[in-house]
Amino acid sequence: MESKGDIIIEVENLVTHYGDTKVLDGVSFTVRRGEIFMIIGGSGCGKSTLLKHLCGLLRPTSGRIVFQGSDIASMDEDQLAVMQQSIGIAFQSSGLFNSMTVGDNIAMPMVEFGSVDPSLVKPLVRMKLSLVGLAQAEHLMPSDLSGGMRKRAGLARAIAVDPPLVYFDEPSAGLDPIMAAGLDELVMKLNKLLGTTFIIVTHELDSIKLAADRILMLDRGKVIFLGTLDDVEKSTNERVRQFFERRADEHIEQRQLA
Ligand SMILES: Nc1ncnc2c1ncn2[C@@H]1O[C@H](COP(=O)(O)OP(=O)(O)O)[C@@H](O)[C@H]1O
Ligand SMILES: [Mg+2]
Repeated sequence: MESKGDIIIEVENLVTHYGDTKVLDGVSFTVRRGEIFMIIGGSGCGKSTLLKHLCGLLRPTSGRIVFQGSDIASMDEDQLAVMQQSIGIAFQSSGLFNSMTVGDNIAMPMVEFGSVDPSLVKPLVRMKLSLVGLAQAEHLMPSDLSGGMRKRAGLARAIAVDPPLVYFDEPSAGLDPIMAAGLDELVMKLNKLLGTTFIIVTHELDSIKLAADRILMLDRGKVIFLGTLDDVEKSTNERVRQFFERRADEHIEQRQLA
């Protein structure tokens, strides 16, 4: 019997190239079931590439990605398709289909995977929408929603079939701080309520402080930090310290200006 705290995904010595350029260079880490695990690092350091590997959208040059006991890196297309039913992905842009209502967007994974009884699709769509605070949005089109609402709808779709693991790439990109904080609280609520494991790429120090159980920092394709917020204090890596200190300073300055 699996329980909170088991390893849900293990990445072992992942190496990836785009052409001749090495983008991930020996990345290793594990994520535990029930964690909110955040991935940080400068623009272009390989965060989105790493997420794409974790859900089997890209294949590594070498290394292993063991998800619930099976190596994603060596799965064939059929095995990947089955594996992908166990993960929810909320992309940087919400990834909603603009030609469908919000409700139909959330119903799509339920219908596509055929794992939900057809008579239950509508009630489940309503339940997911109300979980993310969009109970009234079922019949709206994505274009009718604000940026923050679209992110919530994207998250509702990611959790449509109750995956044990959800990936979220830069959830707060393009949101104002209040909407971003709302999204952090939503992630924490779903994590508590459903036990969902979250792997989140972010730049937001506020989000990290509020919600992260552990943090992985990448720099030029290598892991330069892996630990809790408390562990940051112990890190002697200049880039790690810079990220956590400079961003904090900017924040204080902004407050003083306001
Ligand atoms: N499809 C691609 N083909 C070639 N290079 C890419 C591709 N996608 C990303 N890159 C490059 O790989 C590096 C890592 O990209 P990415 O994982 O998107 O970084 P991040 O999400 O951390 O900003 C960057 O230098 C980027 O320009
Ligand atoms: Mg990215």
